[in-house]
Amino acid sequence: MTDNQRIIVKENAAMLAQKATSLFHQTAKESIDRRGRFVVAISGGTTPRRMYRMLAEEPCGSAIPWNKTYIFWADERCVPENDPASNYGAAKNDFLNRVPVPEAQVYPMPGELPPKQGALKYQKALIDFFHLEDGQVPIFDLILLGMGTDGHTASLFPGHRTVDETKRMVVAVKGGHPNVNRLTLTLPVLNRAKQIIFLISGKEKAATLKTVFENPKAQLPVQKIYTLDGELTWLLDRETASLLSGEIIHEKP
Ligand code: 6PG
Repeated sequence: MTDNQRIIVKENAAMLAQKATSLFHQTAKESIDRRGRFVVAISGGTTPRRMYRMLAEEPCGSAIPWNKTYIFWADERCVPENDPASNYGAAKNDFLNRVPVPEAQVYPMPGELPPKQGALKYQKALIDFFHLEDGQVPIFDLILLGMGTDGHTASLFPGHRTVDETKRMVVAVKGGHPNVNRLTLTLPVLNRAKQIIFLISGKEKAATLKTVFENPKAQLPVQKIYTLDGELTWLLDRETASLLSGEIIHEKP
């Protein structure tokens, strides 16, 4: 494990969500103090939903400077926004509809377009928002990621060529649960973030996590996430961390 990584373990999923919420708030404040805005990319799946709901509740709801917050997605399923599988739809229900973030500062991935076209459109949105020149990639203040039991993260799946993408910032891919077309940010973007937080919960992920830390040859997409110039935090609950050696854990319940 590199010096810019830390592993924090919480007793249960509720305490994990609380910690994630407070790190989100803290990163928002620091980013706005330093750069005048907070630009975050969030993920889908079940695990972060408790945290998303907490973002809209007090004390966070009114403490986060939502008017200086810009929300992007790390990945999206290509389904209509009212489909239960839509990451944007879930985030809207969980917090976006309940906090005063200006609509123009929310950048859902265009899951309604044909996937390749959607990927190009989102890449263009990133280029415009971050004022990127040729060869530059966006630097997010925070990227929130999850992990599947197969070691995927965002929609970068084991053995799929999109994991090796070095040029495009957004790609289309089919896979996962549900097994649908998806859009995902690629490693060159994910690995440039100033902060990356993995939010992982549940005992069904314990064995995969052990592999992540103990078998570098497994070549899981999750193992390809690191920060070039930032910090990576693994936020785990006790069950998920149950097979890890206690020595590598920085904060225990
Ligand atoms: C998505 C994701 C994906 C997710 C993991 C974990 O499918 O949209 O962003 O990478 O984070 O599959 O999902 P769970 O939290 O549901 O286990």
